[in-house]
Amino acid sequence: MNDRDLLLIFGTETGNAEVLAEDAGHLAGISGLNPTVMDMEDISLATLSSAKRLIVICSTWGEGEQPVNAQDLYDSVQESEVGSMDGVSYAVLALGDTAFEFFCESGKEWDILLEEKGGSRVNKRIDCDLDYDDYAADWISATLEIMKQI
Ligand SMILES: Cc1cc2nc3c(=O)[nH]c(=O)nc-3n(C[C@H](O)[C@H](O)[C@H](O)COP(=O)(O)O)c2cc1C
Repeated sequence: MNDRDLLLIFGTETGNAEVLAEDAGHLAGISGLNPTVMDMEDISLATLSSAKRLIVICSTWGEGEQPVNAQDLYDSVQESEVGSMDGVSYAVLALGDTAFEFFCESGKEWDILLEEKGGSRVNKRIDCDLDYDDYAADWISATLEIMKQI
């Protein structure tokens, strides 16, 4: 494991979170971090637990539900022991739509769950409405700066 490693994981139904994760990963690479971008569906609890730096980018579907590709990982973390995320410095970017009652619920759930399991929140979660490009880009830049200091 490289000391500059950054894991970026995305939960998505139609690709917005994936595009953001890929863009953030690219930016991380040119900022001196060593990024890995992964679909939540393809990641194990063990890999997540061993991440030193973690950015979660996740949309919300249905009525406040996790995207399908995120649900199994979310359940695994929820069932894991307290302390499973010890040593993980994380930040969450939530995608959603204020037209829905449970705005950005999945991202909120990730943010709370990672803290409950011992992770350290290093930047405040951002909840993005549909017009998120500039807002998200600013948060990603700021979060990468923080991650570089860890
Ligand atoms: C059928 C449907 C249900 C949705 N449900 C919610 C919701 O409950 N809360 C929310 O904040 N956004 C909701 N959204 C908005 C999506 O989260 C938003 O469009 C997001 O940018 C999609 O990102 P993705 O392409 O990464 O999945 C919903 C969108 C659709 C089409």
